[in-house]
Amino acid sequence: MIIARSAQELKDALALKTGSIGFVPTMGALHIGHRTLIDAARKENDTVVVSIFVNPTQFLPGEDLSKYPRREEADFKICELSGVDILFYPDAGGMYGEDEVRMCAPDVRGFILEGASRPGHFDGVLTVVMKLFNIVSPTRAYFGKKDAQQLALIMQMVNNFFMKIEIVPMDTVRENDGLALSSRNVYLSPAERQEALKLSAALKSATKMVMQGNINSADIKANMETILAPLNVEYVVIVNRGFESIENVAIGDTIILVAARVGVTRLIDNVWM
Ligand code: PAJ
Repeated sequence: MIIARSAQELKDALALKTGSIGFVPTMGALHIGHRTLIDAARKENDTVVVSIFVNPTQFLPGEDLSKYPRREEADFKICELSGVDILFYPDAGGMYGEDEVRMCAPDVRGFILEGASRPGHFDGVLTVVMKLFNIVSPTRAYFGKKDAQQLALIMQMVNNFFMKIEIVPMDTVRENDGLALSSRNVYLSPAERQEALKLSAALKSATKMVMQGNINSADIKANMETILAPLNVEYVVIVNRGFESIENVAIGDTIILVAARVGVTRLIDNVWM
């Protein structure tokens, strides 16, 4: 595995490769969720590139940028064992200059849910992903459905800017007890981790209601809010794939999303129906 620490090093490493390039952008502290994306990229492409970059522009002032888990050695091992060809591991100075042109999330989908809770977050995500796409020039790029709104906005960016990249959405990987894997789970104390199960429990209960025939969004939401009540809930929403609120769940075109704080840790989860 080649470790490229600058855009130039990455371009030099890629110049020696032929065929398709599968790309998995991450912020490190890799877990099985990331591993699933890498495995899919490995299966479907000639060359696999993973980036690890804790992108400062997508963190708001006061968020966890400085304490975001950094696991260089373990991450390098995981990439190596997963058959990654090139690991892109730049520093902030190599990715950003001063007073740069930036990407902006669109008004309608960029400023709701995560965009409302974390204003400016998606501008930072889109900016760094645009930079990464331009450095790597992937054939395919892999993103988790766990970050549903991020995935939708990246798909929209690729469309709006006529970029020739296939975005591959991947299902959320969970612990056996339902907790969605996240690099931020390491912040949870054992007691908080138990509390955090309420997110997946609420989503599971919503799925059960739908399977039993109750597709009314208000009913489903009320039931979820009861389960989530002990937590500091930021939002529970039932939307279509365009992130518009819907009165009734429509199988094949619905996402139910939740964001809540467990202690000081902010967690998100969702289910696609
Ligand atoms: P990060 O949180 O490291 O996530 C990297 C990718 O892994 C994202 O596409 C995310 O949706 C996916 N992922 C996270 N948890 C997952 C799980 N439990 N199951 C499946 N996939 C999961 O998302 C980011 O980094 C950044 O915003 C980034 C896109 C790299 C831009 O900085």
